[in-house]
Amino acid sequence: MKTVKIIAPATIANLVCGFDILGMALNEPQDEMTLSLSDQPGIRITHADEYDLPVLPLQNVAGVALLALMEEYDKPIGFDLIIDKHIKPGSGLGSSAASAAGAVAAANHLLQNIFSNEDLVRFAMNGEKLASGVKHADNISPCIYGGVTLIRSIFPLDIIPLDAPHVFVTVVHPQIEVRTSDSRQILRKEILLKDAIKQWGNIAGLVAGFMKKDYELISRSLEDVIVEPVRSILIPGFDEVKIRCKEAGALGGGISGSGPSIFMLSKEENTSQKVEVIMKDIFEKIGIDYKTYITTINYEGVKIIESK
Ligand code: HSE
Repeated sequence: MKTVKIIAPATIANLVCGFDILGMALNEPQDEMTLSLSDQPGIRITHADEYDLPVLPLQNVAGVALLALMEEYDKPIGFDLIIDKHIKPGSGLGSSAASAAGAVAAANHLLQNIFSNEDLVRFAMNGEKLASGVKHADNISPCIYGGVTLIRSIFPLDIIPLDAPHVFVTVVHPQIEVRTSDSRQILRKEILLKDAIKQWGNIAGLVAGFMKKDYELISRSLEDVIVEPVRSILIPGFDEVKIRCKEAGALGGGISGSGPSIFMLSKEENTSQKVEVIMKDIFEKIGIDYKTYITTINYEGVKIIESK
């Protein structure tokens, strides 16, 4: 086997209250990547999309993830990588994670799966470090494992895949760019104990709600008193989207990752459609271009679609 083609899902990090520790994989959008083993050492990256991302391995999130894998593989090896992104960089939908996770999952397939999923998360986090300045796994983990994951710790890695009930996910991606590094920098470094108590109540409630498939508990727990009040200022229309979508019956939602995308969870498909109409109405009024998705949870993570 010399060449593998994969798809890597978009992900929603944080899931409102779980900053850096919770994430969910989506069925749409997904990146496509083709990775080939080569006799020529090193990594050669080409892009099949319009985003003009770096091609030098050390400047590319997939490149640095692959380099970390190659270092541990410890035998001479080379790769040719073609990246076709459908998850727009800077969207808050885990674009860099999909590139990094997709590349190492594809490489592992070519190397007869010698690495564990946890190893792949460890390699791919180098991509997040390059993109945002810090290692975090809340996009990478669901991208590799699929579903909803809890990252209890990254040093050492402790990833807990969570059961989750079927939900519809409506996403609006206003076409403005919010850099993860900037939206991390504006966060307060210290928080009040009373806010921490509220937040960990919500995180525990959300995790319990997913595991018990209790939609009411999920809905009550989708509240963030720490990060959202600061970051939402960067996203025009955020408060109106949240208020009107909840009035229309959505379970709740918030900023996807570091934004600017906003997501809402709904139990019923017709609610998710009403939510999409509201999102479109708000961004039409504001006059910002946008893209919307109605999708569901992706339970597979990175998927091999061709291998030869
Ligand atoms: N947890 C990260 C953040 C996800 O919110 O900054 C974005 O990469």
